[in-house]
Amino acid sequence: MSIQLEKVKELIQLREKARLGGGEKRIESQHLKGKYTARERLAMLLDEGSFEEFDMFVEHRCHNFGMENTKFLGDGVVTGYGTIEGRLVYVFAQDFTVSGGSLSEMHAAKICKVMDQAMKMGAPLIGINDSGGARIQEGINALAGYAEIFQRNILASGVIPQISGIFGPCAGGAVYSPALTDFNIMTQGTSYMFLTGPKVVKTVTGEDVTQEQLGGASVHTTKSGVAHFSAQTEEDAVQLIQKLFSYIPQNNLEEPPVYKSNDPIDRLEDGLNDIIPDSANKPYDMYEVIGAVVDNGEFLEVHADYAKNIIVGFARFNGQSVGIVANQPKFLAGVLDINASRKAARFVRFCDAFNISIVSLVDVPGFLPGTGQEYGGVITHGAKLLYAYGEATVPKVTVTLRKSYGGAHIVMSCKQLRGDINYAWPSAEIAVMGADGAVEVLYSKEIKDAGEKAAEVMIEKKDEYNNLFANPYNAARYGYIDDVIEPKNTRFRVIRALQQLQTKKLTNPPKKHDNLPL
Ligand code: HXC
Repeated sequence: MSIQLEKVKELIQLREKARLGGGEKRIESQHLKGKYTARERLAMLLDEGSFEEFDMFVEHRCHNFGMENTKFLGDGVVTGYGTIEGRLVYVFAQDFTVSGGSLSEMHAAKICKVMDQAMKMGAPLIGINDSGGARIQEGINALAGYAEIFQRNILASGVIPQISGIFGPCAGGAVYSPALTDFNIMTQGTSYMFLTGPKVVKTVTGEDVTQEQLGGASVHTTKSGVAHFSAQTEEDAVQLIQKLFSYIPQNNLEEPPVYKSNDPIDRLEDGLNDIIPDSANKPYDMYEVIGAVVDNGEFLEVHADYAKNIIVGFARFNGQSVGIVANQPKFLAGVLDINASRKAARFVRFCDAFNISIVSLVDVPGFLPGTGQEYGGVITHGAKLLYAYGEATVPKVTVTLRKSYGGAHIVMSCKQLRGDINYAWPSAEIAVMGADGAVEVLYSKEIKDAGEKAAEVMIEKKDEYNNLFANPYNAARYGYIDDVIEPKNTRFRVIRALQQLQTKKLTNPPKKHDNLPL
Protein backbone atom coordinates (compact mmCIF):
# COMPACT_ATOMS: atom_id res chain seq x y z
CA MET A 1 0.00 0.00 0.00
CA SER A 2 1.38 3.44 -0.95
CA ILE A 3 2.06 5.98 1.78
CA GLN A 4 -0.77 8.11 0.48
CA LEU A 5 -3.22 5.21 0.57
CA GLU A 6 -2.17 4.48 4.15
CA LYS A 7 -2.83 8.07 5.08
CA VAL A 8 -6.26 7.93 3.47
CA LYS A 9 -6.99 4.75 5.43
CA GLU A 10 -5.93 6.45 8.63
CA LEU A 11 -8.28 9.35 7.86
CA ILE A 12 -11.17 6.97 7.30
CA GLN A 13 -10.42 5.22 10.59
CA LEU A 14 -10.23 8.51 12.45
CA ARG A 15 -13.57 9.57 10.98
CA GLU A 16 -15.15 6.31 12.07
CA LYS A 17 -13.78 6.82 15.55
CA ALA A 18 -15.07 10.39 15.71
CA ARG A 19 -18.51 9.29 14.53
CA LEU A 20 -18.72 6.93 17.49
CA GLY A 21 -18.48 9.84 19.94
CA GLY A 22 -18.15 8.44 23.46
CA GLY A 23 -18.38 4.86 22.18
CA GLU A 24 -20.98 2.19 21.51
CA LYS A 25 -21.83 1.60 25.17
CA ARG A 26 -22.71 5.22 25.76
CA ILE A 27 -24.65 5.38 22.49
CA GLU A 28 -26.65 2.39 23.70
CA SER A 29 -27.29 4.10 27.01
CA GLN A 30 -28.46 7.22 25.15
CA HIS A 31 -30.89 5.10 23.13
CA LEU A 32 -32.11 3.35 26.28
CA LYS A 33 -33.09 6.76 27.66
CA GLY A 34 -35.29 7.19 24.57
CA LYS A 35 -32.88 9.73 23.07
CA TYR A 36 -31.08 9.90 19.76
CA THR A 37 -27.41 10.75 19.38
CA ALA A 38 -26.23 14.13 18.13
CA ARG A 39 -25.48 12.77 14.65
CA GLU A 40 -28.80 10.94 14.41
CA ARG A 41 -30.59 14.17 15.31
CA LEU A 42 -28.78 16.18 12.66
CA ALA A 43 -29.49 13.46 10.10
CA MET A 44 -33.21 13.77 10.88
CA LEU A 45 -33.12 17.57 10.75
CA LEU A 46 -31.18 18.22 7.58
CA ASP A 47 -31.83 17.30 3.95
CA GLU A 48 -30.38 13.88 3.23
CA GLY A 49 -26.68 14.00 2.44
CA SER A 50 -26.47 17.78 2.94
CA PHE A 51 -24.54 17.82 6.20
CA GLU A 52 -20.95 19.07 6.08
CA GLU A 53 -19.18 18.67 9.37
CA PHE A 54 -16.53 20.96 10.84
CA ASP A 55 -13.97 20.23 13.53
CA MET A 56 -14.37 16.49 13.78
CA PHE A 57 -10.81 16.21 15.08
CA VAL A 58 -11.00 18.84 17.78
CA GLU A 59 -9.94 17.67 21.22
CA HIS A 60 -9.97 19.43 24.57
CA ARG A 61 -6.74 20.88 26.02
CA CYS A 62 -7.45 20.21 29.68
CA HIS A 63 -4.84 18.61 31.93
CA ASN A 64 -6.74 18.75 35.20
CA PHE A 65 -7.95 15.61 37.00
CA GLY A 66 -6.18 13.30 34.51
CA MET A 67 -8.28 14.66 31.65
CA GLU A 68 -5.28 14.40 29.30
CA ASN A 69 -6.05 10.66 29.25
CA THR A 70 -9.75 11.11 28.46
CA LYS A 71 -10.08 12.58 25.04
CA PHE A 72 -12.72 12.02 22.39
CA LEU A 73 -12.55 13.32 18.83
CA GLY A 74 -14.98 16.18 18.39
CA ASP A 75 -15.09 16.94 22.13
CA GLY A 76 -18.79 16.42 22.70
CA VAL A 77 -20.43 18.50 20.04
CA VAL A 78 -21.12 17.94 16.35
CA THR A 79 -21.07 21.13 14.28
CA GLY A 80 -21.38 22.18 10.67
CA TYR A 81 -23.90 23.21 8.07
CA GLY A 82 -26.48 21.65 5.82
CA THR A 83 -29.79 22.46 4.23
CA ILE A 84 -33.47 22.21 5.13
CA GLU A 85 -35.67 22.17 2.02
CA GLY A 86 -32.58 23.33 0.17
CA ARG A 87 -32.01 26.37 2.41
CA LEU A 88 -28.65 26.82 4.14
CA VAL A 89 -28.58 26.44 7.91
CA TYR A 90 -25.76 26.20 10.46
CA VAL A 91 -26.11 23.63 13.18
CA PHE A 92 -24.62 22.22 16.33
CA ALA A 93 -25.76 19.24 18.36
CA GLN A 94 -24.25 18.42 21.72
CA ASP A 95 -23.14 14.82 22.08
CA PHE A 96 -24.17 13.50 25.48
CA THR A 97 -22.07 10.37 24.94
CA VAL A 98 -18.89 12.43 25.42
CA SER A 99 -18.55 13.66 29.01
CA GLY A 100 -22.31 14.14 29.18
CA GLY A 101 -22.19 16.74 26.38
CA SER A 102 -20.52 19.03 28.88
CA LEU A 103 -19.15 22.27 27.52
CA SER A 104 -15.39 22.67 27.42
CA GLU A 105 -13.28 25.50 26.03
CA MET A 106 -12.87 23.66 22.68
CA HIS A 107 -16.49 22.49 22.58
CA ALA A 108 -17.51 26.14 22.91
CA ALA A 109 -14.99 27.19 20.26
CA LYS A 110 -16.63 24.77 17.82
CA ILE A 111 -20.07 26.24 18.49
CA CYS A 112 -18.70 29.77 18.14
CA LYS A 113 -17.19 28.88 14.79
CA VAL A 114 -20.55 27.89 13.30
CA MET A 115 -22.18 30.92 14.87
CA ASP A 116 -19.63 33.16 13.21
CA GLN A 117 -20.11 31.41 9.88
CA ALA A 118 -23.89 31.74 10.18
CA MET A 119 -23.54 35.48 10.75
CA LYS A 120 -21.14 35.92 7.83
CA MET A 121 -23.38 33.95 5.51
CA GLY A 122 -26.65 35.37 6.82
CA ALA A 123 -28.10 31.94 7.55
CA PRO A 124 -30.13 30.68 10.52
CA LEU A 125 -28.57 28.79 13.41
CA ILE A 126 -30.15 25.74 14.97
CA GLY A 127 -28.60 24.31 18.15
CA ILE A 128 -29.61 21.05 19.81
CA ASN A 129 -28.81 21.07 23.50
CA ASP A 130 -28.17 17.90 25.49
CA SER A 131 -25.54 18.66 28.08
CA GLY A 132 -24.51 18.38 31.72
CA GLY A 133 -23.44 22.04 31.57
CA ALA A 134 -20.00 23.51 32.10
CA ARG A 135 -17.25 20.83 31.95
CA ILE A 136 -16.40 20.79 35.61
CA GLN A 137 -12.75 19.82 35.09
CA GLU A 138 -12.15 22.89 32.92
CA GLY A 139 -13.35 25.43 35.45
CA ILE A 140 -13.18 29.00 34.27
CA ASN A 141 -12.35 28.01 30.68
CA ALA A 142 -15.75 26.36 30.40
CA LEU A 143 -17.44 29.46 31.79
CA ALA A 144 -15.53 31.64 29.35
CA GLY A 145 -16.73 29.35 26.58
CA TYR A 146 -20.34 29.91 27.59
CA ALA A 147 -19.82 33.65 27.68
CA GLU A 148 -18.36 33.55 24.16
CA ILE A 149 -21.51 31.79 22.96
CA PHE A 150 -23.87 34.17 24.78
CA GLN A 151 -22.08 37.18 23.29
CA ARG A 152 -22.62 35.74 19.81
CA ASN A 153 -26.26 34.94 20.59
CA ILE A 154 -26.73 38.59 21.51
CA LEU A 155 -25.05 39.99 18.40
CA ALA A 156 -26.92 37.54 16.17
CA SER A 157 -30.28 38.42 17.71
CA GLY A 158 -32.45 40.13 15.13
CA VAL A 159 -29.87 39.45 12.39
CA ILE A 160 -30.27 35.71 11.83
CA PRO A 161 -33.02 33.50 13.26
CA GLN A 162 -31.77 31.33 16.12
CA ILE A 163 -33.64 28.20 17.16
CA SER A 164 -32.84 25.95 20.14
CA GLY A 165 -33.90 22.37 20.55
CA ILE A 166 -33.66 21.15 24.13
CA PHE A 167 -33.46 17.37 23.82
CA GLY A 168 -31.84 16.54 27.16
CA PRO A 169 -30.49 18.31 30.22
CA CYS A 170 -29.82 22.03 29.96
CA ALA A 171 -28.99 23.33 33.40
CA GLY A 172 -27.19 26.13 35.20
CA GLY A 173 -26.07 29.13 33.23
CA ALA A 174 -26.24 26.95 30.11
CA VAL A 175 -29.92 27.84 29.89
CA TYR A 176 -29.05 31.36 28.86
CA SER A 177 -28.05 30.49 25.33
CA PRO A 178 -31.50 29.06 24.52
CA ALA A 179 -33.07 31.94 26.46
CA LEU A 180 -31.30 34.39 24.16
CA THR A 181 -32.46 32.63 21.00
CA ASP A 182 -35.77 33.18 19.24
CA PHE A 183 -37.51 29.85 19.84
CA ASN A 184 -37.06 26.94 22.24
CA ILE A 185 -38.48 23.51 21.49
CA MET A 186 -38.41 20.97 24.33
CA THR A 187 -39.00 17.22 24.26
CA GLN A 188 -41.46 15.88 26.81
CA GLY A 189 -40.07 13.66 29.55
CA THR A 190 -36.45 13.75 28.35
CA SER A 191 -35.49 17.40 28.57
CA TYR A 192 -35.30 19.91 31.35
CA MET A 193 -34.06 23.43 31.90
CA PHE A 194 -33.34 25.08 35.22
CA LEU A 195 -30.81 27.43 36.75
CA THR A 196 -30.41 25.42 39.93
CA GLY A 197 -31.20 21.73 40.19
CA PRO A 198 -33.49 19.95 42.67
CA LYS A 199 -30.69 19.36 45.20
CA VAL A 200 -29.76 23.01 45.48
CA VAL A 201 -33.43 23.97 45.58
CA LYS A 202 -33.93 21.60 48.51
CA THR A 203 -30.95 23.07 50.38
CA VAL A 204 -31.87 26.70 49.80
CA THR A 205 -35.66 26.73 49.93
CA GLY A 206 -36.54 23.36 51.43
CA GLU A 207 -38.75 22.54 48.44
CA ASP A 208 -38.89 18.95 47.25
CA VAL A 209 -39.16 18.87 43.48
CA THR A 210 -38.19 16.50 40.72
CA GLN A 211 -36.31 17.64 37.63
CA GLU A 212 -39.53 17.33 35.64
CA GLN A 213 -41.51 19.43 38.14
CA LEU A 214 -38.79 22.05 38.24
CA GLY A 215 -38.01 22.44 34.57
CA GLY A 216 -39.66 19.86 32.33
CA ALA A 217 -41.27 20.70 29.02
CA SER A 218 -44.74 21.10 30.51
CA VAL A 219 -43.47 23.58 33.11
CA HIS A 220 -41.77 25.75 30.53
CA THR A 221 -44.59 25.68 27.99
CA THR A 222 -47.41 26.33 30.47
CA LYS A 223 -46.04 28.13 33.53
CA SER A 224 -42.84 29.99 32.75
CA GLY A 225 -43.18 30.54 29.00
CA VAL A 226 -39.46 29.85 28.61
CA ALA A 227 -40.19 27.24 25.91
CA HIS A 228 -42.35 28.00 22.90
CA PHE A 229 -43.11 24.44 21.87
CA SER A 230 -43.01 20.96 23.33
CA ALA A 231 -42.99 17.71 21.41
CA GLN A 232 -43.70 14.17 22.47
CA THR A 233 -40.81 12.64 20.58
CA GLU A 234 -37.58 13.87 19.08
CA GLU A 235 -38.97 13.10 15.63
CA ASP A 236 -41.91 15.42 16.36
CA ALA A 237 -39.57 18.09 17.71
CA VAL A 238 -37.42 17.95 14.58
CA GLN A 239 -40.50 18.21 12.36
CA LEU A 240 -41.63 21.21 14.38
CA ILE A 241 -38.27 22.91 13.84
CA GLN A 242 -38.49 22.22 10.10
CA LYS A 243 -42.01 23.61 9.95
CA LEU A 244 -41.05 26.71 11.92
CA PHE A 245 -38.09 27.17 9.59
CA SER A 246 -40.44 27.24 6.60
CA TYR A 247 -42.09 30.46 7.83
CA ILE A 248 -38.96 32.48 8.50
CA PRO A 249 -36.37 34.13 6.28
CA GLN A 250 -32.63 33.46 6.20
CA ASN A 251 -31.83 36.77 7.85
CA ASN A 252 -33.12 40.25 8.63
CA LEU A 253 -32.42 41.51 5.09
CA GLU A 254 -34.39 38.81 3.32
CA GLU A 255 -38.06 38.00 2.96
CA PRO A 256 -39.54 34.74 4.23
CA PRO A 257 -39.94 32.03 1.58
CA VAL A 258 -43.18 32.19 -0.41
CA TYR A 259 -44.96 28.90 -1.06
CA LYS A 260 -47.35 28.34 -3.91
CA SER A 261 -50.86 28.28 -2.49
CA ASN A 262 -53.72 26.29 -3.95
CA ASP A 263 -56.25 27.97 -1.64
CA PRO A 264 -58.23 30.56 -3.67
CA ILE A 265 -57.57 34.08 -2.47
CA ASP A 266 -61.25 34.96 -2.90
CA ARG A 267 -62.55 31.99 -0.89
CA LEU A 268 -65.59 33.25 1.03
CA GLU A 269 -66.36 31.91 4.47
CA ASP A 270 -70.09 32.33 4.99
CA GLY A 271 -69.79 30.96 8.52
CA LEU A 272 -67.91 34.07 9.61
CA ASN A 273 -70.97 36.24 8.96
CA ASP A 274 -72.68 34.43 11.81
CA ILE A 275 -69.88 33.53 14.23
CA ILE A 276 -70.30 36.38 16.75
CA PRO A 277 -72.85 35.39 19.44
CA ASP A 278 -75.81 37.70 20.07
CA SER A 279 -74.77 38.27 23.65
CA ALA A 280 -71.63 40.37 24.05
CA ASN A 281 -70.60 38.23 27.02
CA LYS A 282 -70.68 34.96 25.11
CA PRO A 283 -67.41 33.65 23.73
CA TYR A 284 -66.61 32.07 20.39
CA ASP A 285 -63.45 30.34 19.34
CA MET A 286 -60.86 32.55 17.65
CA TYR A 287 -59.15 29.41 16.27
CA GLU A 288 -62.20 28.98 14.03
CA VAL A 289 -61.68 32.45 12.59
CA ILE A 290 -57.96 31.90 12.05
CA GLY A 291 -58.59 28.50 10.46
CA ALA A 292 -61.21 29.99 8.16
CA VAL A 293 -59.10 32.81 6.77
CA VAL A 294 -55.51 31.52 6.39
CA ASP A 295 -54.25 29.31 3.56
CA ASN A 296 -55.68 25.80 3.90
CA GLY A 297 -56.44 26.45 7.56
CA GLU A 298 -52.80 25.78 8.44
CA PHE A 299 -51.56 27.54 11.55
CA LEU A 300 -48.33 26.92 13.47
CA GLU A 301 -49.13 28.16 16.92
CA VAL A 302 -46.32 29.49 19.11
CA HIS A 303 -46.67 29.31 22.90
CA ALA A 304 -49.94 27.38 22.47
CA ASP A 305 -50.21 26.45 26.15
CA TYR A 306 -49.07 29.71 27.70
CA ALA A 307 -51.29 32.79 28.20
CA LYS A 308 -54.09 31.27 26.17
CA ASN A 309 -56.03 34.53 26.23
CA ILE A 310 -53.90 35.60 23.30
CA ILE A 311 -53.03 33.44 20.30
CA VAL A 312 -49.82 33.96 18.33
CA GLY A 313 -48.32 31.95 15.51
CA PHE A 314 -47.45 31.64 11.86
CA ALA A 315 -49.70 31.11 8.88
CA ARG A 316 -49.77 32.05 5.21
CA PHE A 317 -51.98 34.28 3.11
CA ASN A 318 -51.68 33.43 -0.58
CA GLY A 319 -48.39 31.69 0.21
CA GLN A 320 -46.94 34.67 2.06
CA SER A 321 -45.75 34.08 5.61
CA VAL A 322 -47.48 36.16 8.28
CA GLY A 323 -47.49 36.39 12.04
CA ILE A 324 -50.98 36.18 13.51
CA VAL A 325 -51.80 37.85 16.82
CA ALA A 326 -55.36 37.26 18.00
CA ASN A 327 -57.25 37.74 21.25
CA GLN A 328 -59.04 34.56 22.32
CA PRO A 329 -62.54 35.37 23.69
CA LYS A 330 -62.84 31.75 24.83
CA PHE A 331 -60.11 32.17 27.45
CA LEU A 332 -60.45 34.85 30.13
CA ALA A 333 -62.70 36.66 27.64
CA GLY A 334 -59.59 37.52 25.63
CA VAL A 335 -58.43 40.03 28.22
CA LEU A 336 -54.85 41.32 28.08
CA ASP A 337 -52.74 40.54 31.14
CA ILE A 338 -49.06 40.38 32.04
CA ASN A 339 -48.32 37.05 30.41
CA ALA A 340 -50.38 37.71 27.29
CA SER A 341 -48.63 41.05 26.80
CA ARG A 342 -45.17 39.52 27.17
CA LYS A 343 -46.00 36.61 24.91
CA ALA A 344 -47.42 38.73 22.12
CA ALA A 345 -44.77 41.46 22.42
CA ARG A 346 -41.94 39.02 21.89
CA PHE A 347 -43.72 37.49 18.92
CA VAL A 348 -44.43 40.87 17.31
CA ARG A 349 -40.79 41.83 17.74
CA PHE A 350 -39.62 38.60 16.14
CA CYS A 351 -41.89 39.18 13.14
CA ASP A 352 -40.76 42.77 12.82
CA ALA A 353 -37.08 41.83 13.04
CA PHE A 354 -37.49 39.26 10.27
CA ASN A 355 -39.76 41.01 7.78
CA ILE A 356 -42.86 38.98 8.55
CA SER A 357 -46.10 40.92 8.14
CA ILE A 358 -48.43 40.97 11.13
CA VAL A 359 -52.16 40.31 10.98
CA SER A 360 -53.98 41.12 14.23
CA LEU A 361 -57.48 39.83 14.95
CA VAL A 362 -58.96 41.90 17.73
CA ASP A 363 -61.64 41.07 20.28
CA VAL A 364 -60.39 42.46 23.56
CA PRO A 365 -62.43 43.73 26.51
CA GLY A 366 -59.45 45.54 28.07
CA PHE A 367 -56.65 44.85 30.52
CA LEU A 368 -57.25 42.48 33.44
CA PRO A 369 -57.90 44.58 36.56
CA GLY A 370 -56.79 43.82 40.11
CA THR A 371 -53.93 43.94 42.58
CA GLY A 372 -52.38 40.74 41.25
CA GLN A 373 -51.81 42.36 37.89
CA GLU A 374 -50.90 45.82 39.18
CA TYR A 375 -48.40 44.48 41.72
CA GLY A 376 -46.94 42.28 39.02
CA GLY A 377 -46.28 45.33 36.88
CA VAL A 378 -48.96 45.02 34.22
CA ILE A 379 -48.27 48.65 33.35
CA THR A 380 -44.72 47.83 32.28
CA HIS A 381 -45.63 44.50 30.69
CA GLY A 382 -48.60 45.91 28.80
CA ALA A 383 -46.31 48.68 27.59
CA LYS A 384 -44.11 46.01 26.01
CA LEU A 385 -46.86 45.04 23.60
CA LEU A 386 -47.73 48.66 22.95
CA TYR A 387 -44.06 49.33 22.26
CA ALA A 388 -43.64 46.28 20.06
CA TYR A 389 -46.55 47.21 17.80
CA GLY A 390 -45.60 50.87 17.76
CA GLU A 391 -41.98 50.28 16.74
CA ALA A 392 -42.81 47.57 14.17
CA THR A 393 -42.27 48.73 10.60
CA VAL A 394 -43.43 45.57 8.81
CA PRO A 395 -46.88 45.63 7.15
CA LYS A 396 -49.57 45.56 9.85
CA VAL A 397 -53.15 44.62 9.05
CA THR A 398 -55.71 44.70 11.85
CA VAL A 399 -59.23 43.32 11.80
CA THR A 400 -61.48 44.17 14.74
CA LEU A 401 -64.11 41.48 15.14
CA ARG A 402 -65.95 42.57 18.24
CA LYS A 403 -64.72 44.36 21.37
CA SER A 404 -61.89 46.82 21.24
CA TYR A 405 -61.97 48.85 24.40
CA GLY A 406 -59.76 51.39 26.07
CA GLY A 407 -56.00 50.96 26.37
CA ALA A 408 -56.31 47.50 24.89
CA HIS A 409 -57.79 49.03 21.72
CA ILE A 410 -54.72 51.20 21.36
CA VAL A 411 -52.28 48.39 22.15
CA MET A 412 -53.75 45.97 19.62
CA SER A 413 -52.25 47.63 16.55
CA CYS A 414 -54.59 50.59 16.23
CA LYS A 415 -54.27 53.12 13.41
CA GLN A 416 -52.22 55.60 15.44
CA LEU A 417 -49.61 52.93 16.22
CA ARG A 418 -48.93 52.95 12.51
CA GLY A 419 -51.42 50.24 11.68
CA ASP A 420 -51.38 50.19 7.88
CA ILE A 421 -54.80 48.78 7.18
CA ASN A 422 -57.41 48.64 9.94
CA TYR A 423 -60.63 46.85 9.12
CA ALA A 424 -63.61 46.15 11.33
CA TRP A 425 -66.48 43.76 11.13
CA PRO A 426 -69.99 45.30 11.52
CA SER A 427 -70.07 43.62 14.96
CA ALA A 428 -67.10 45.70 16.18
CA GLU A 429 -67.46 47.84 19.29
CA ILE A 430 -64.68 50.40 19.49
CA ALA A 431 -64.93 52.59 22.56
CA VAL A 432 -63.25 53.74 25.76
CA MET A 433 -65.09 51.07 27.71
CA GLY A 434 -68.16 48.80 27.60
CA ALA A 435 -71.66 50.18 28.19
CA ASP A 436 -71.97 48.84 31.76
CA GLY A 437 -68.88 50.65 33.03
CA ALA A 438 -69.51 53.79 31.04
CA VAL A 439 -73.10 54.24 32.26
CA GLU A 440 -72.01 53.71 35.88
CA VAL A 441 -69.47 56.50 35.52
CA LEU A 442 -71.47 58.95 33.42
CA TYR A 443 -74.94 58.57 34.97
CA SER A 444 -74.47 57.43 38.56
CA LYS A 445 -76.40 60.48 39.85
CA GLU A 446 -79.30 60.06 37.40
CA ILE A 447 -79.53 56.36 38.21
CA LYS A 448 -79.52 57.07 41.95
CA ASP A 449 -82.13 59.82 41.59
CA ALA A 450 -84.38 57.55 39.51
CA GLY A 451 -85.23 55.47 42.60
CA GLU A 452 -87.56 52.64 41.58
CA LYS A 453 -86.98 53.43 37.92
CA ALA A 454 -83.20 53.03 38.22
CA ALA A 455 -83.15 49.84 36.13
CA GLU A 456 -85.15 51.51 33.38
CA VAL A 457 -82.85 54.52 33.30
CA MET A 458 -79.84 52.27 33.17
CA ILE A 459 -81.19 50.34 30.20
CA GLU A 460 -82.07 53.56 28.43
CA LYS A 461 -78.61 55.04 29.00
CA LYS A 462 -76.90 51.83 27.96
CA ASP A 463 -78.90 51.73 24.73
CA GLU A 464 -77.94 55.31 24.09
CA TYR A 465 -74.25 54.50 24.71
CA ASN A 466 -74.38 51.33 22.61
CA ASN A 467 -76.05 53.12 19.72
CA LEU A 468 -73.30 55.67 19.77
CA PHE A 469 -70.27 53.49 20.45
CA ALA A 470 -71.01 49.75 20.16
CA ASN A 471 -70.33 49.79 16.47
CA PRO A 472 -67.42 50.35 14.09
CA TYR A 473 -68.88 53.40 12.39
CA ASN A 474 -67.94 55.94 15.01
CA ALA A 475 -64.25 55.04 14.54
CA ALA A 476 -64.75 54.77 10.77
CA ARG A 477 -66.18 58.29 10.72
CA TYR A 478 -62.81 59.61 11.84
CA GLY A 479 -60.85 57.38 9.45
CA TYR A 480 -59.46 55.29 12.34
CA ILE A 481 -60.99 52.29 10.61
CA ASP A 482 -60.26 52.10 6.88
CA ASP A 483 -63.32 50.06 6.03
CA VAL A 484 -66.07 48.02 7.61
CA ILE A 485 -65.97 44.64 5.91
CA GLU A 486 -68.27 41.67 5.59
CA PRO A 487 -66.79 38.95 7.79
CA LYS A 488 -67.02 36.34 5.05
CA ASN A 489 -64.72 38.48 2.87
CA THR A 490 -62.00 38.71 5.51
CA ARG A 491 -59.52 36.40 3.79
CA PHE A 492 -59.78 38.23 0.50
CA ARG A 493 -59.56 41.68 2.06
CA VAL A 494 -56.54 40.75 4.19
CA ILE A 495 -54.74 39.25 1.20
CA ARG A 496 -55.45 42.37 -0.85
CA ALA A 497 -54.15 44.52 1.99
CA LEU A 498 -50.98 42.46 2.32
CA GLN A 499 -50.37 42.60 -1.42
CA GLN A 500 -50.79 46.34 -1.41
CA LEU A 501 -48.29 46.64 1.45
CA GLN A 502 -45.52 44.63 -0.18
CA THR A 503 -43.48 47.69 -1.08
CA LYS A 504 -43.97 49.36 2.29
CA LYS A 505 -40.99 51.40 3.40
CA LEU A 506 -40.89 52.79 6.91
CA THR A 507 -37.94 53.34 9.22
CA ASN A 508 -37.57 54.43 12.80
CA PRO A 509 -35.32 57.32 13.85
CA PRO A 510 -31.63 56.38 14.12
CA LYS A 511 -30.60 55.45 17.67
CA LYS A 512 -28.10 53.25 19.46
CA HIS A 513 -30.96 51.02 20.55
CA ASP A 514 -34.36 51.48 22.05
CA ASN A 515 -35.16 51.37 25.73
CA LEU A 516 -38.25 49.24 25.66
CA PRO A 517 -39.87 48.71 29.06
CA LEU A 518 -38.20 45.42 30.01
C1 HXC B 1 -18.00 17.02 33.27
C2 HXC B 1 -19.86 15.69 33.18
C3 HXC B 1 -20.69 16.79 33.47
C4 HXC B 1 -20.05 18.06 33.65
C5 HXC B 1 -21.94 15.07 33.23
N1 HXC B 1 -20.68 14.64 33.05
N2 HXC B 1 -21.96 16.38 33.51
N3 HXC B 1 -18.54 15.82 33.06
N4 HXC B 1 -18.71 18.12 33.54
N5 HXC B 1 -20.75 19.15 33.92
C6 HXC B 1 -20.25 13.31 32.71
C7 HXC B 1 -20.42 12.33 33.85
O1 HXC B 1 -19.30 12.38 34.68
C8 HXC B 1 -20.48 11.02 33.08
O2 HXC B 1 -19.18 10.67 32.68
C9 HXC B 1 -21.25 11.42 31.83
O3 HXC B 1 -21.09 12.82 31.69
C10 HXC B 1 -22.69 11.08 31.89
O4 HXC B 1 -23.22 11.61 33.10
P1 HXC B 1 -24.14 10.76 34.08
O5 HXC B 1 -24.19 11.49 35.34
O6 HXC B 1 -23.67 9.33 34.10
O7 HXC B 1 -25.51 10.81 33.28
P2 HXC B 1 -26.97 10.95 33.87
O8 HXC B 1 -27.18 9.99 34.98
O9 HXC B 1 -27.88 10.86 32.71
O10 HXC B 1 -27.06 12.40 34.50
C11 HXC B 1 -26.95 13.55 33.68
C12 HXC B 1 -26.80 14.81 34.53
C13 HXC B 1 -25.65 14.63 35.54
C14 HXC B 1 -28.11 15.04 35.29
C15 HXC B 1 -26.59 15.97 33.57
O11 HXC B 1 -24.49 14.19 34.82
C16 HXC B 1 -25.31 15.90 36.23
O12 HXC B 1 -25.97 16.28 37.19
N6 HXC B 1 -24.22 16.54 35.80
C17 HXC B 1 -23.74 17.73 36.43
C18 HXC B 1 -24.64 18.89 36.11
C19 HXC B 1 -24.08 20.16 36.64
O13 HXC B 1 -24.17 20.48 37.83
N7 HXC B 1 -23.38 20.89 35.76
C20 HXC B 1 -22.81 22.14 36.05
C21 HXC B 1 -23.93 23.15 35.99
S1 HXC B 1 -23.33 24.74 36.32
P3 HXC B 1 -18.74 9.17 32.38
O14 HXC B 1 -17.30 9.27 32.06
O15 HXC B 1 -19.05 8.43 33.62
O16 HXC B 1 -19.58 8.72 31.24
C22 HXC B 1 -22.98 25.31 34.82
C23 HXC B 1 -22.50 26.67 34.85
C24 HXC B 1 -22.60 27.27 33.51
O17 HXC B 1 -23.15 24.69 33.86
C25 HXC B 1 -22.48 28.74 33.64
C26 HXC B 1 -22.59 29.40 32.32
C27 HXC B 1 -22.72 30.87 32.50
